[in-house]
Amino acid sequence: MIYFDAAATTLQKPKAVRLAVTRAMERCASVGRGGHAPAAAAAETVFACRQAAGELFHVADPENVVFTLNATHALNLAIKSVVRPGDRVVISGYEHNAVTRPLQALGCEIQVARAPLFQPEAMLAAFDALVTPQVACVISTHVSNVFGYVLPVEKIAALCRERGVPFILDASQSAGALPVHMDELGAAFIGMPGHKGLYGPQGTGLLLCGEGRETRTLLEGGTGSLSARQEMPDFLPDRLEAGTHNVCGIAGLLEGIRFVRKTGEETILRHEQELVCLTTLGLSKLPGVTLYTARALRDQAGVLSFTVQDRDCEELGAALGERGIAVRAGLHCAPVAHRTAGTLETGTVRVGFSHFNTEGEVRRFIRTVAELTA
Ligand code: ALA
Repeated sequence: MIYFDAAATTLQKPKAVRLAVTRAMERCASVGRGGHAPAAAAAETVFACRQAAGELFHVADPENVVFTLNATHALNLAIKSVVRPGDRVVISGYEHNAVTRPLQALGCEIQVARAPLFQPEAMLAAFDALVTPQVACVISTHVSNVFGYVLPVEKIAALCRERGVPFILDASQSAGALPVHMDELGAAFIGMPGHKGLYGPQGTGLLLCGEGRETRTLLEGGTGSLSARQEMPDFLPDRLEAGTHNVCGIAGLLEGIRFVRKTGEETILRHEQELVCLTTLGLSKLPGVTLYTARALRDQAGVLSFTVQDRDCEELGAALGERGIAVRAGLHCAPVAHRTAGTLETGTVRVGFSHFNTEGEVRRFIRTVAELTA
């Protein structure tokens, strides 16, 4: 099997991740739920992961790193901490349903900063026109989950700081490959999965909280702290971590983060971009293929999308799957992004790389697409 669906989740994980999950299952109990050795082992593991994530993403206080189930959970916490029903919110034209559905459920007035693919200056101008001090918050993805487009989030964050508007970053496709710098961005919140570019297990995610930010709970329950009180603790991370932690998942995530730090985000990004270039070159020679890729390498991370004339994307994706190549086709839970790019009617076939993919796999993929579209 050639696995090119890392934008959904990375399937190949470092060996240390798999070992850590098993080891945690054998020796870890629950964090803060007892004074015994297995509880202490769980607390040490979870704190080590909080600290490693804080260091990787430049969060000064590890207590501001909150464990979540996934990026959707993290983004829901962020959005529902900042946005009130009916508020006006500005989002990029490349957002995922994890952002738009919570906003819709809150009855927000959603203003979309739209600009064509791979035109960061036009994207910035679109935000500039919409962001006023009356806006409740601005939300942008760092990298489009459909097209791999790297949005100019440093400049969008600077615009928000100038205008006193809270900024929420969706780092679902960038964490582990691009620098995500909480301090420099001055973001209110950053949400991300643990199971994509951080190579942790599914069921893990992170919410990075800005210093002193007010937060609202989605779940209330036991935290192992202030047990006599009936209100949730007002301090992080306990306030947002009700119930037993996914200790085995977090143990794996810790090793995934260590892998990213040891390998280096630049190395991971460069390898994925090389595979994007090779794929683009190969597909561009096939008749009927339309590629949605950047001219400048800096504008695209390890994800790309394409369509083939007169071929249904989902059928092509399924045919690739039957030949042992895993891609994702359709709308990728991101109709807003497809609308902005002009692919809402057709969807696209998406290829998402990880550090573990190879040039040989890309060559076989190109040959297979050529056979299927001949
Ligand atoms: N958001 C994930 C994707 O793009 C699941 O496939």
